Amino acid sequence: MPKKGKSNFDSRYPSVEDLRAKAKKRIPKFAFEYLDGGCNEDINLHKNTAEIREVELLPYYLSKHSGSNMKTKLFGHSYDAPFGIAPVGLQGLMWPRSPEILAKAAFEHNIPFVLSTVSTSAIERISEITEGQAWFQLYHPAKTKLRDDIIRRAAAAECPVLVILSDVPTFGFRPRDIRNGLAMPPKMSIANILQIMGKPNWALQTLRHGQPNFETLRPYMPKNLDLKQLGQFMDQTFSGRLNEERIKPIRDMWKGKLVLKGVACEADVEKAIQLGLDGVIVSNHGGRQLDAGESTIRPLARIAEAYGSQIEVMMDSGLRSGPDIARTMASGAKFTFMGRSFMYGVAALGAEGGNHTISLLKAQLQQVMEQICCENIQDFPNHLIQK
Ligand SMILES: Cc1cc2nc3c(=O)[nH]c(=O)nc-3n(C[C@H](O)[C@H](O)[C@H](O)COP(=O)(O)O)c2cc1C
Repeated sequence: MPKKGKSNFDSRYPSVEDLRAKAKKRIPKFAFEYLDGGCNEDINLHKNTAEIREVELLPYYLSKHSGSNMKTKLFGHSYDAPFGIAPVGLQGLMWPRSPEILAKAAFEHNIPFVLSTVSTSAIERISEITEGQAWFQLYHPAKTKLRDDIIRRAAAAECPVLVILSDVPTFGFRPRDIRNGLAMPPKMSIANILQIMGKPNWALQTLRHGQPNFETLRPYMPKNLDLKQLGQFMDQTFSGRLNEERIKPIRDMWKGKLVLKGVACEADVEKAIQLGLDGVIVSNHGGRQLDAGESTIRPLARIAEAYGSQIEVMMDSGLRSGPDIARTMASGAKFTFMGRSFMYGVAALGAEGGNHTISLLKAQLQQVMEQICCENIQDFPNHLIQK
């Protein structure tokens, strides 16, 4: 049984923006910019949040209200809130042990934590922390043997949900990371060393916990790769572009729930349904891949309306608050995820960052529900002001 999350937040940081500002002060510039940035001109990054915030909700002040309950049933599990922690790569670069901090907080608050293939804790360790409740996100390996081995490990770790990613057929064009020479482990240019020296707390914690590594992938990686060899290993190991032929064998092999993440159009949802998938996450990777794309709230509304009765439709990208979660649920999402919000929390507050950010979002969402007289999560669409 999960130990109940403390459900209180540090009153110095009553918004995700406060956490972002603190994170910016606390971690080196190359790590903050990797987390914070979008791609190209950051148009899609900003549009995601801006267009979610165009959604307006109707309050019913005189209706009967017997309390608001955030519990949300998804894939047979009753979660305590309708949001989860999205998969983020290189987490240990932003703050040491951040996947473990977030997985523990998610478990204690009974919300899902999704581990990325390229995060910095091993799937087995995260499964142990969450007693087999964490989800796993798979980057598609080029070699069948490796793909099958990782899927077998996810099954052995009792992951209930496997998330396959469709929106990284190419690596996003991210000017800040290019400028910063971002690499794993961090490249020690003079500029990066100076940035690290300016953040003693981060440097100390990183020294104490050791250099972050791709722990799930460690068994497949040759030892002591230099930076160039590491890049080549990643390019050769992951095939990037997903297609129906690549999804079929995964569906056959994976007995748990299978979710496609990175969906932005109706055609891909239809394919997901035909392939027997259980859910889709409407997502544009937090605006990190296609700057010329739509924000996610727009396709969400269309997809939820057309396919919401055939497949679980979830959404991420751009949410930063309880009201944003409410707006997204009112627009038809069954569940929501956030990436940066939680990482800002951990980068800002370290070990307390997971509990704080979840508690904060829960408190904000609870307030919205009570304010508009929404008793249950599935009632949110009744509050949508149609435009
Ligand atoms: C720094 C960073 C790294 C990410 N790495 C991954 C990843 O490894 N796998 C993945 O499926 N999504 C990855 N994502 C995308 C997130 O899962 C999620 O879609 C996105 O963060 C949602 O947008 P938000 O940050 O505005 O909440 C990453 C996002 C960020 C910000």
